[in-house]
Amino acid sequence: MELLKAVESQVRVYSRAFPMIFNRAKNAHLYSKDGKEYLDFLAGAGSLNYGHNNDILKKALIEYIENDGISQGLDLWTTAKQDFIKSYQAHILKPRGLDYKMQFTGPTGTNCVEAALKLARKVKGRDGIISFTNGFHGVSLGAVAATGNKNHRGGAGVPLSSVEFMPYCGYYGKDIDTVKMMDKLLSDNSSGTDLPAAVIVEAVQGEGGLNAASVTWLKDLEKLCRKHDILLILDDIQAGNGRTGEFFSFEAAGIVPDIVTVSKSLSGYGLPMALVLLKPELDIWNPGEHNGTFRGNNMAFITARAAIETYWTDDKFANEVKAKSEILAKRLQGICDQFGPMEFALKGRGMMRGIACSSGELADRITTRAFEKGLIIETAGPDDEVVKCLMPLTISEADLNKGLDLLTESVSEIMEEDLSKAS
Ligand SMILES: Cc1ncc(COP(=O)(O)O)c(C=O)c1O
Repeated sequence: MELLKAVESQVRVYSRAFPMIFNRAKNAHLYSKDGKEYLDFLAGAGSLNYGHNNDILKKALIEYIENDGISQGLDLWTTAKQDFIKSYQAHILKPRGLDYKMQFTGPTGTNCVEAALKLARKVKGRDGIISFTNGFHGVSLGAVAATGNKNHRGGAGVPLSSVEFMPYCGYYGKDIDTVKMMDKLLSDNSSGTDLPAAVIVEAVQGEGGLNAASVTWLKDLEKLCRKHDILLILDDIQAGNGRTGEFFSFEAAGIVPDIVTVSKSLSGYGLPMALVLLKPELDIWNPGEHNGTFRGNNMAFITARAAIETYWTDDKFANEVKAKSEILAKRLQGICDQFGPMEFALKGRGMMRGIACSSGELADRITTRAFEKGLIIETAGPDDEVVKCLMPLTISEADLNKGLDLLTESVSEIMEEDLSKAS
């Protein structure tokens, strides 16, 4: 660990919260080099929805490699790409009545956000973008301009421009309709709010603290975009790929975004892959205008297709995720009820839930204690005050309950320590 500490840049994050050397992982378990077992409620920050080293995906990948399948293909047409596209169209887009073209970008979430923002600006001939308070869209210059977090914005080193932030659903409390506010600003010729090219939004804000927009708010946002001729970009990088119990996080709202950004668990195996879904009429790119060497991760195409064909050809998996979501919500609500609603509140949707603590310091002590007990769990939110559960969707019910037992014990111990200090 001393070598890693000395040599790796101090920009690192997760290895600070979990200072351990890991060498093996299976489904919802991580193992340290010295043999300690951990339950993983972080799951590659939402990039391992189907667990670590999923056997079905691994088998497909090993077969592909053993047959000398193409690993690096730039954006050449390959059978791996063709088969993935066929599968995604047949099992994901068509059954949901969605008609999108598919743009493979450089393999990070940030890169597909960059592409989405550039495309919206090009289509509308306007530079402005509306993003939302507590929104997180990545850390390259275009994406970080649409990200609220001060720490990330501070790293940019240049002025971040052409993005205006509006209050997200519930930002001023549940009685204030923030879409109505936006409508007023956009309709008033002297409000000072210029007409943007696009709105970029997460249906559930992941890094921003598990804020879940209501179905009504999302529907109203779509209507607002149509009314003012603004494109709607739905960033489904963290909340997509089944995390909310449906494949896309916006399905419950019945809306059809103009552009959808997808990454993280898209490959299903933790392999880098990112995709922009765009309405066909928006596809006005010049060849190579948004380029990149690694735009066709063929190994990721293989595992992504295997994930779709294993989990998304019927409702079975989605129903399992919904059942586990209920367990998760009930157990987290139980923690809030037991240890004080003044101190804790349930947040999120589906299997993207957590508890907002009264301070970031309290959340940090809870997750640190959980790690000592063998549970890897992170925080999110403006002050890192939300203890965030992002376990693989494939976790067994037994492991889900075991991890939640460890979390409950951690909260209980920290609260008891505080009580005994106060008395
Ligand atoms: C909603 C959302 N958008 C974009 C990103 C950026 O993705 P990446 O870290 O792969 O660049 C993230 C990452 O957490 C995210 O949660």
